[in-house]
Amino acid sequence: MQRLKFPKGFLWGAASSAYQTEGGNINSDWWAWEHSAKRMDYLRDNGKNPEDYFSSIACDFYNRYDEDIALAQHLNHNSIRLGVEWSRIEPSEGVFDEKVLERYEKILQSAKYHGLKVFLTLYHTTLPVWFAKKGGFAKKANIIYFVDFAHHAVERFNEYVDFWVTINEPELYATLSYALGIFPPQQKKFFLPFFVVNNLIEAHKRVRALIKIHSNKPVSMAFNIVDLQPYGFLGEIAVRVIRYFANEYILRRTIAHCDYIGVNYYFHHHVGLFGFRKHSHSHHENTDRGWGIHPEGLERILLNLRKYKKPVYILENGLADHTDTHREEYIKKHLYYLHSSIQKGVDVRGYLYWSLTDNFEWEEGFWPKFGLIEIDREDLLRRKVRYSATKYAEICRDNGFDY
Ligand code: BGC
Repeated sequence: MQRLKFPKGFLWGAASSAYQTEGGNINSDWWAWEHSAKRMDYLRDNGKNPEDYFSSIACDFYNRYDEDIALAQHLNHNSIRLGVEWSRIEPSEGVFDEKVLERYEKILQSAKYHGLKVFLTLYHTTLPVWFAKKGGFAKKANIIYFVDFAHHAVERFNEYVDFWVTINEPELYATLSYALGIFPPQQKKFFLPFFVVNNLIEAHKRVRALIKIHSNKPVSMAFNIVDLQPYGFLGEIAVRVIRYFANEYILRRTIAHCDYIGVNYYFHHHVGLFGFRKHSHSHHENTDRGWGIHPEGLERILLNLRKYKKPVYILENGLADHTDTHREEYIKKHLYYLHSSIQKGVDVRGYLYWSLTDNFEWEEGFWPKFGLIEIDREDLLRRKVRYSATKYAEICRDNGFDY
């Protein structure tokens, strides 16, 4: 047993996104997709009740934000990652909803009132329908619309924001929406993901430049970084190639335009010449979503980021665990390796667990329970603090723990 102490001023908290928690985002491409005939047919054909897969009221965060933010403070968090929903702020092209802008100001003021540093994400998976209809981020000419939206958001919210996150997981978005065809617009085209990635890179650069006109607040994207380990014949070569495209391509091209590195860490894969081997050779447990738990991978990916010489914040790391039996250990193990990476010279300055509350887990609906706080969907969305949240609260309070 040893005492793991974190650097002074370390940020502790939890992350969320607008669409997954707010509810009622009727002008978003996701809302349209959830209600589309194609999606309904798919769900019915697979014996699922579509009602369980509509985001509908989600966690009603749009109205209950103060309750959730107060709970975060009560759990000793000193920071929070929130998002704004573009389709809510600009429901049709060039029309900015003043009431919505005011509501977001209230949400951000609540975070400040409760003493939290704010990471604010501008774009997290969902798009306004009107923008998606124009071709979304698959068209370079459309970047200006995002920059225009960002302009409005930055002018209104910059005073409440401590860290900007322009785009969440550009690599995953391009893959899930344009290569694997899982997320809307469900396209599977060979070259399209590359165009999308390049457009997102350009969008990030332009939005960062814009934020810099207003202030010196740090800006990054939230990169989904995967721990990739080789297996079998020529596995090392396969890892290098996949690692370049999965983890490094966007990072290398934007690092000069990032003031810190935002990291989302969930995945570990064994890569061989003949592809991915998901959980094989794994002596680790899986989460409710079937994802292997590999805390030591966090240290490996962090050590790999040391060369960029930028501060690192973990913007997402968490698991679906409806019985709350693994969450405390999951957090502690990841923090153990995070701490160890700090000892080895990585400048990690914060950890945000995903997620503050249970929420809408995209194509999986509401069944995966990622929250430190349970949302009881049978009981008026009542918030119930999980046991693991109280253990995490002790770590946040003490800025360390015995392990
Ligand atoms: C995404 C979240 C998502 C979480 C768990 C992350 O990749 O940013 O929106 O809920 O993973 O799947």
